[in-house]
Amino acid sequence: MSKIQRPNRIWAIGGGKGGIGKSFISSTFAICLARMAKEVTLVDLDLGSANLHTYLGMKEPKLSLSDFISGRVDDLNQVSTATEFQNMRFISGFNDALNIADLGVQHKTRLIQALRTIRTPYVILDLGAGTTENTLDFFLSADEKLIAVTPEPTSIENAYRFIKSSYYRKLRTAEVQLGMQDVFENAMDARNQLGIRSPADLLRYVTERDPAAGADLSNLISELHLHIILNQVRTRADVELGHSIKSVCQKYFGIECDYLGYIDHDNAVWQALRKRRPLVLEHPYSSIVGQFLNMTKNLLNPHSVRAVV
Ligand SMILES: Nc1ncnc2c1ncn2[C@@H]1O[C@H](COP(=O)(O)OP(=O)(O)O)[C@@H](O)[C@H]1O
Ligand SMILES: [Mg+2]
Repeated sequence: MSKIQRPNRIWAIGGGKGGIGKSFISSTFAICLARMAKEVTLVDLDLGSANLHTYLGMKEPKLSLSDFISGRVDDLNQVSTATEFQNMRFISGFNDALNIADLGVQHKTRLIQALRTIRTPYVILDLGAGTTENTLDFFLSADEKLIAVTPEPTSIENAYRFIKSSYYRKLRTAEVQLGMQDVFENAMDARNQLGIRSPADLLRYVTERDPAAGADLSNLISELHLHIILNQVRTRADVELGHSIKSVCQKYFGIECDYLGYIDHDNAVWQALRKRRPLVLEHPYSSIVGQFLNMTKNLLNPHSVRAVV
């Protein structure tokens, strides 16, 4: 009897802004999973400024996503390389000429489908900065959608922008099925005549007029469960910010989200990066590594209480 392969679980780390720790977070999650004996592939989707190999202390691998995108390689698994970590593979995004925004619809769709063929049970996507449609589509294709944010106002602003853009992108990709193009089109205009000022208003508006369509919309939105991770935390007030972001998401967007956890600001992070050594190897018993292990366990167990902070 042939062995039935279960589909893999994809985790994506987004957040809108550059320099907030997405690459550090995605590489550390991958190493934590590998250490827990879960086979994982880390994928660098920050095309244009791919640098994830540096977090792993690796040279640029010979093959990268561009070999798959260009069609030189058919099977995405062929461009994945072994790492020094048992159970962990890596797909590099490195190619100076390739930018994520330039990826055409066909290439993007082929890549999103191919991510599901990766032969490790877990796949982690490191996304680039910004809210281009392609980045949002990779984010939305993931099973676990993580938003990285730091306590700086600019980062928080960008995180909200990223969440809002993901929300409307999700509606756009479903509008044909739901048949609500006109309402969505209006809702996206911040000064629309319908009085819809937030995604939660939109849901109310649709439900009042057409309860069945409202239920469909609500189902769609429930797929957008987000996990908030606060990075570079220095004070207790910083820690609390995660709770406010969570409640804004629920009230304003009407979407489910949890505060998965926070990561301390620690000079050891950038110092390890300078040495091109993953933090998990440099400081395996540090509190940051403990914070990551807890978050990893929570993400692995969908029934666990999600509020860990
Ligand atoms: N918790 C942290 N404490 C200290 N420095 C951090 C922390 N997280 C990230 N950094 C540093 O911030 C910089 C940007 O991180 P990076 O992961 O490359 O961000 P992004 O992928 O979002 O652009 C790096 O120099 C990294 O070492
Ligand atoms: Mg990065």
